[in-house]
Amino acid sequence: MNDVSEIIETLYRGDGGALSADDIASFLDECESGDYDEALAARAREVREPIYGNRVYVRGLIEISNICKNDCLYCGIRRSNRNCIRYRLDEDTIISCADEGYELGFRTFVLQGGEDAYYTDDVMCSIISRIKSSHPDCAVTLSLGERSRDSYRRMRSAGADRYLLRHETANPDHYAQLHPASMSYENRIQCLYTLRELGYQVGCGFMVGSPYQTNRHIANDLCFIRDFYPAMCGIGPFVPHHETPFASFPSGTVEKTCRLLSIIRLLCPHVLLPATTALGTIHPRGREMGILAGANVVMPNLSPVGVRKQYELYDNKICTGEESAQCRDCLELRIRSVGCEIVTDRGDVKK
Ligand code: SAM
Ligand code: FES
Repeated sequence: MNDVSEIIETLYRGDGGALSADDIASFLDECESGDYDEALAARAREVREPIYGNRVYVRGLIEISNICKNDCLYCGIRRSNRNCIRYRLDEDTIISCADEGYELGFRTFVLQGGEDAYYTDDVMCSIISRIKSSHPDCAVTLSLGERSRDSYRRMRSAGADRYLLRHETANPDHYAQLHPASMSYENRIQCLYTLRELGYQVGCGFMVGSPYQTNRHIANDLCFIRDFYPAMCGIGPFVPHHETPFASFPSGTVEKTCRLLSIIRLLCPHVLLPATTALGTIHPRGREMGILAGANVVMPNLSPVGVRKQYELYDNKICTGEESAQCRDCLELRIRSVGCEIVTDRGDVKK
């Protein structure tokens, strides 16, 4: 057995904790020079099977605002993009998106947006409690960036169940290459620990193929994910946006994203792992390939069709023209094509 196959077996046995960042970095290097991805994916599916079977959870994504005070260098809705047409959804519109999603079988709503000061704690708490009181069998996930501990606490008390905050990179120097000096790696990581302490199911994650990323950086990401053991982990390819400083950097690849989905499944067998829209953007069957690599979540869009194009984090984002019902039906067929089944379920993490 060569080194790569041995490491795949170590991961499969649940002994990934024994691997150092150096081991993982050279494993990633070697994976690039051989044909190991199918073996890795097969092991990831074997580990997923007894926990989640062939069930894939759906989350209804409501993109509440593309107004953001931040200026992340990779992001199409960054503050400096003067050519972005800005919008924000009011409370009643967000509630109608959730109501429509409920009828379509969604039992989790993800409210995602830029860091927009309009959504004060009072506004957010009102939205969260209205969704929870109309649909007590549903989970509310927030993805609103960095806020204060008190803000996270209030939204949790109002009923929010989960919070997605990608750590973006577990290497402080790399973090500084992707973000303006006003943003801090330490604060981002602190937010993740605060959210967990407040009782949220927490999601972290990163972009595959982000500018300046090396396999050593990814090894640090994987060690962070393994040790933090999040309930959810969002990884998708970096895709350039033409109005950002990273416009001319290449996208991440499907192969590497799928390879990392498999490794994360093996390192954290219970994690809720989405096959992201970005993966579907760089390959027509990207999301199906993600499920085959070990993912078990998809996040179709529930935002009003009129604003979808404006939530343009990267170029050529898919699913911006379809109605919510079409998105759901389309994903249902795609998931079935790889032998899995979308279920009507909150889809909490299995412990
Ligand atoms: N403002 C919130 C936050 O900071 O977590 C949520 C919105 S933010 C747009 C959600 C995620 O989009 C980021 O965590 C980032 O990883 C991803 N993203 C942004 N620009 C991207 C790009 N060009 N390609 C792929 N993913 C991107
Ligand atoms: Fe704020 Fe992208 S810079 S959401």
